[in-house]
Amino acid sequence: MLGNFTYCNPTKVYFGKDALSGLDEELPKYGKNVLLVYGGGSIKRNGIYDAVLEKLKKHGKVVTEDAKVMPNPTSEKLKEGCARARAAQADLILAVGGGSVIDYAKGVSVSAYCKEDPWTKYYLQMQDPSDGIIPVGAVLTMVGTGSEMNGGSVITNHEQKLKIGHVFGEEVFPKFAILNPEYTYTLPKYQMVAGFYDIMCHIHEQYFSGTDDNTSDYVMEGLMRSLIHSSKIAIDDPKNYEARSNIMWTATWALNTFVAMGKSTDWEVHMIGQAVGAYTDATHGMTLSAVTLAYFRHILPYGMQKFVRYAVNVWGVGAEGKTDEQVALEGLAALEAWMRSLSLVMDLKTLGVTQEMLPGIVEATFIMQGGYKVLTKEDVMEILQESMESKE
Ligand code: NZQ
Ligand code: ZN
Repeated sequence: MLGNFTYCNPTKVYFGKDALSGLDEELPKYGKNVLLVYGGGSIKRNGIYDAVLEKLKKHGKVVTEDAKVMPNPTSEKLKEGCARARAAQADLILAVGGGSVIDYAKGVSVSAYCKEDPWTKYYLQMQDPSDGIIPVGAVLTMVGTGSEMNGGSVITNHEQKLKIGHVFGEEVFPKFAILNPEYTYTLPKYQMVAGFYDIMCHIHEQYFSGTDDNTSDYVMEGLMRSLIHSSKIAIDDPKNYEARSNIMWTATWALNTFVAMGKSTDWEVHMIGQAVGAYTDATHGMTLSAVTLAYFRHILPYGMQKFVRYAVNVWGVGAEGKTDEQVALEGLAALEAWMRSLSLVMDLKTLGVTQEMLPGIVEATFIMQGGYKVLTKEDVMEILQESMESKE
């Protein structure tokens, strides 16, 4: 049964080849001081920086730059961004980049005027923001996280070896998001496919939970089929606009809160993946691909009917004359074949995980309650051990 919910997504989306012109509508809504946040420099090489700066100049903005936001942004960098935002008296934070840049921008947005230590308040204690919030706008250059249309902000604390996401409320969602699929053409293949898998995993996390009948599961099956179809085209032809635009929009809908409404969700693969990320700083999507199959094999007996439905409705597995287990396993085999066709990382060793790290990763893994089996610490260790080496 669909549970009770209140739904609001306040992010205004400008989508398509001309999406950047959305800045002409949005920029006049904010004061003159803009904090321009970006990553390691890809936007300077592919021309997006120049195009954004031209718009900012056209609208008479005073721009302060906060560059070098690293993949998996850190609590240390967050402090630096807060100081810059305050010094600039930023009226708007414009994040130009992928999930890391946008997540970081949201972190700065709620932390710049925070009277307590932001890492403790937001990421360890999950408190709501109570001091001033600086509005955030996003120009997306990497597809996967959904950060462009949600309240998620994932920050890594290397000292404490923790990577934690706070899902903020609608006041922290980007006020607007510029989504031009062509901006993603310059992504290295490794990042492109990691993003594809992140999308798939977001849908899995919300799909593999509950036994009730709800609209969200049907929507998610459609999103997964679209992603699988388009990813097969994009892998051979990365500049195929139709495929890349479908994938971009699928990513946004996979994690803009819509499909989670009224249903329970899992998120355990993300919890394990984030703990792996805290120890290795590996690319987010790859931390998920490396542990998914071992996790699914662990929970399959507890969620058999959903795995059968997944095999049939998402992967087109024929069920006639087969046991439920056979059908479910064929579904997982189809998932694995697709993952391998994308050249995803399928084991933890490749990401730099060592046996010595495993107990710490287990400790850093948050246990969620919504999946088909609530894991024990021993389960997490078994999943990690099974994920150390990929079995072809
Ligand atoms: O730093 P630059 O130079 O921009 O390079 C980036 C970075 O090296 C590069 N890149 C991005 N756009 C590019 C490009 N290179 C060439 N051309 C372009 N157009 O790609 C690399 C990865 O970027 P990053 O932003 O780190 O990737 P992603 O979008 O996957 O974000 C990952 C972060 O988001 C968090 C992850 O945990 C991780 O910290 N997540 C955020 C979520 C949310 N807000 O809801 C949910 C996710 O599950 C995820 O946890
Ligand atoms: Zn993710």
